[in-house]
Amino acid sequence: MATTEQLTDVQATLSFSVNGRVVSITASPLARLSSILREELGLTGTKVGCDAGDCGACTVLLDGEPVCACLVATAQAQGCEVTTVEGLAQRGPLYDKLQKSFLMHGAAQCGACTPGMLVAATALLERNQKPTENEVMDTLGGVLCRCTGYRKIIAAVLEVNDGVTGQKTPEVGHAVGDRLIRLDGQPKVNGTEIYGADEVPAGALVLRAVRCPFHRARFRFGDLEAYALQNPGIVTILTAKDIPGENRYGVISKFADQPVFAVEEARFRGEAVAAVVGEYEAMGKLDLANFPVSWKKLPSLMSLEEALAPGAVRVHNNREENVLVRGRVVRGDVDKALAEADVTAEAEYETGFVEHACIEPEAGFARRVGDTIEIQACTQSPYMDRSDIARILGIPPEAVRIIPTAVGGGFGTKLDLSVQPFLALASWHLDQSVRMVYSRTESMVSTTKRHPASMRLKAGANRDGKIVALDFHADFNTGAYSSWGPTVAARVPVHASGPYYVPHYRALTRAVHTHLVPAGAFRGFGVPQTAMAQEQLYDELADRLQMDRLEFRILNALDNGTPTVTGQVLGEGVGIRACLEALRPRWLAARQEAAEFNRNATGSFRRGVGVAGMWYGCGNTSLPNPSTMRIGLKPDGRISLHQGAIDIGQGSATVVTQICADALGCPIDRFDLVSGDTSITPDCGKTSASRQTFVSGKAAYMAGQALRREILRRAGACECANVSFQDGRLEVQDGSRQHKIVLSNLSTDHHGYVLTAEATFDPPTQPLDDNGQGVPYAVFGFGAHLAEVEVDIELGTVKVLKITASHDVGRAINPTLIEGQIEGGVAQGIGMALMEEFFPGKGENLHDYLIPSAGDIPPVESILIEDQSPIGPFGAKGIGEQAVISTAPAVLNALHDAIGIRVRKIPATPDRVREAILQAGIPGAQRG
Ligand code: FES
Ligand code: FES
Repeated sequence: MATTEQLTDVQATLSFSVNGRVVSITASPLARLSSILREELGLTGTKVGCDAGDCGACTVLLDGEPVCACLVATAQAQGCEVTTVEGLAQRGPLYDKLQKSFLMHGAAQCGACTPGMLVAATALLERNQKPTENEVMDTLGGVLCRCTGYRKIIAAVLEVNDGVTGQKTPEVGHAVGDRLIRLDGQPKVNGTEIYGADEVPAGALVLRAVRCPFHRARFRFGDLEAYALQNPGIVTILTAKDIPGENRYGVISKFADQPVFAVEEARFRGEAVAAVVGEYEAMGKLDLANFPVSWKKLPSLMSLEEALAPGAVRVHNNREENVLVRGRVVRGDVDKALAEADVTAEAEYETGFVEHACIEPEAGFARRVGDTIEIQACTQSPYMDRSDIARILGIPPEAVRIIPTAVGGGFGTKLDLSVQPFLALASWHLDQSVRMVYSRTESMVSTTKRHPASMRLKAGANRDGKIVALDFHADFNTGAYSSWGPTVAARVPVHASGPYYVPHYRALTRAVHTHLVPAGAFRGFGVPQTAMAQEQLYDELADRLQMDRLEFRILNALDNGTPTVTGQVLGEGVGIRACLEALRPRWLAARQEAAEFNRNATGSFRRGVGVAGMWYGCGNTSLPNPSTMRIGLKPDGRISLHQGAIDIGQGSATVVTQICADALGCPIDRFDLVSGDTSITPDCGKTSASRQTFVSGKAAYMAGQALRREILRRAGACECANVSFQDGRLEVQDGSRQHKIVLSNLSTDHHGYVLTAEATFDPPTQPLDDNGQGVPYAVFGFGAHLAEVEVDIELGTVKVLKITASHDVGRAINPTLIEGQIEGGVAQGIGMALMEEFFPGKGENLHDYLIPSAGDIPPVESILIEDQSPIGPFGAKGIGEQAVISTAPAVLNALHDAIGIRVRKIPATPDRVREAILQAGIPGAQRG
């Protein structure tokens, strides 16, 4: 929420034009224009991602020029014309073309950046109808996107005048494989999509959390009542003693350990200890620095080494050696195999925290309705939220309704609770609506991060180039609370071999507590960190064997029928060899081009090419993971799909409907989506681990087929009969016989449907034994990336020139959406490899924490391999997590290929690269 009111109590009447309408408001002249647009004028298409001029989400036109509305004092708008995304249509037909182009290109994923992008692009196109790619990239450079990797946005702007006409509905039975425009796309390009902060009940109170400023501290409250009295407008102050149920939550119940409010001791900087609830104006002015709490800073564990040191203080008394959980997969005799190997290579790698940096900060509101609580907020996991809120309030889960809003980027962090418990508690006690929006800093200090990892590994191979063994040890810094630490520790040992046959294998992991922000789920659950180490080590092994690095991987690639490191034998759908082979033409050409460039290099630039493979098990590791879909036929002949799979921008709402339409044999434009809401959609599990296309898609496939069977049964027709869906009736053609079902003649059920079907799919897995042997996943996705880079040996900078990404997706249900996932994953992978590291206590904003902008992302060529899974719907596998895994190791291998250095602590920032260059004594690296 806006806090600019703190700056001054002076009010003024200000007049300016907004989207062609003159408005007159009384407000502080210093109030942020973004706040006035959203709060006073209800123009929530203008998003607020940082309130500091860093993200560009709030971009509007001020007298035709793009500006960050969060940096414009409202007085500066006096007498000006302001255009927000809602008003772009008035500027002429260009905007309609731009919207269509965005939709056709898949340029809006979560959509949180989309209004800012559209406004910035409109300003450019109004003065230059044919901009160059560089001009587009320059214009969009001020607006950050965390989902798309920018390439589709750039293409949408460049090709806006190329006669984009809109969507052609696919033929019946051909929705799967179609580049269908996302079904939830229009509100994203209209600026009318509702995110967590965009809808507020009239008169809702505002909640602000009081958070610990130290990494670890004991605390005592002063006179809370007096504080409330001194600050008119405060309605209540909440602390742990106000929690009617358990002051504890966590995504994995067995390990749930995080309090809503800390009691006596806070275990990380940013942990909440209390919440203040009050009226909007008063809360905007409230200075929480005066909140009556005294802190006693305590010594804190700031690293894995400190946490694991003998005698270290325990973060949680019941967790010995600060180890939350251990993971283990062991197969064969790794020590013997390494001792007998013809060549070995070993290495140690370290990675840091990575921030999700969703453009939409966490937000929502809650209201009490009788004996139930309703929470409308951004989330990736409504049913898990429901369970935890019920536990906190001490009420049955059925008394909690979670209404997910659109999610402005998740990537794993919105699997954990954020605003929800505070809102639920306040609203429950006050019987009033309460809202909360995290500031960017609050989001960065308190929400989960990617786990920092410390990895040690050794691999061996024989002269014939076959890998014989891998020994892998990794510790993951899971921070102060468990979050997804157990999942990372369990998933990594299964994946640390990479997608190769490794007969002798040992992978041991630990998730270790420190006094730092909890690490949780972030695209890949630890596998991206692991791949950075294992794929660089395999390059070293190939080099020792004097083998081509790509051919080494092809030689060792898993095949159908080859046992994995858990002894699982995938009979079909092992597409890694095809992924690697698809890269061969570009690999050979790029290697030649780089060698040529380096031969002729006279300045400080050197080029290199790197490759890395990946695999990723879709869904939970050896745990139940069901999704349930409900489908209903209405008397008017339209179909409702109750799909609770939360679309966080990846496109699951569209993909799941494409699958269901073809399974039912119905045109996709007959579908109405009923999206995630725990009161009206069955449980589709959480949006994580690349499971929605595979698991929820399979449930939709089964529900579609079940409804078709029911229709055929009613018509007494055979399985091969053709069903035609018409307004108010069905026509069933069974050979020469035709049946007509008039839908209004059928009775309706309590949902209002004349026919309905529901189906649940739970992927078949088996538990892992003590050595991690078993069937952890029913389906794996495979992929490989090829990176071409240019290194400046004087500055230590690395520029990625091109990424070629091949992915085995089983069946490409929607190629445009898959490419969007790949390009977005590549962008996050480049960030991980070269620039992103979060230091708790430092740079907790998007100015100091850098994520890739449009200028950082090279062309990405996606190659889709369709080696169908025997289990997935129409053979489909997942792609969301897979997309990020190979980029960073491919870039780091390319860096080594260019100049022969390995950076052991990642990201390979210019200072680290430069240091490694100087240590290696690379000729020409000394500045002239
Ligand atoms: S909200 Fe204005 S730049 Fe981020
Ligand atoms: S689509 Fe750009 S931030 Fe999500």
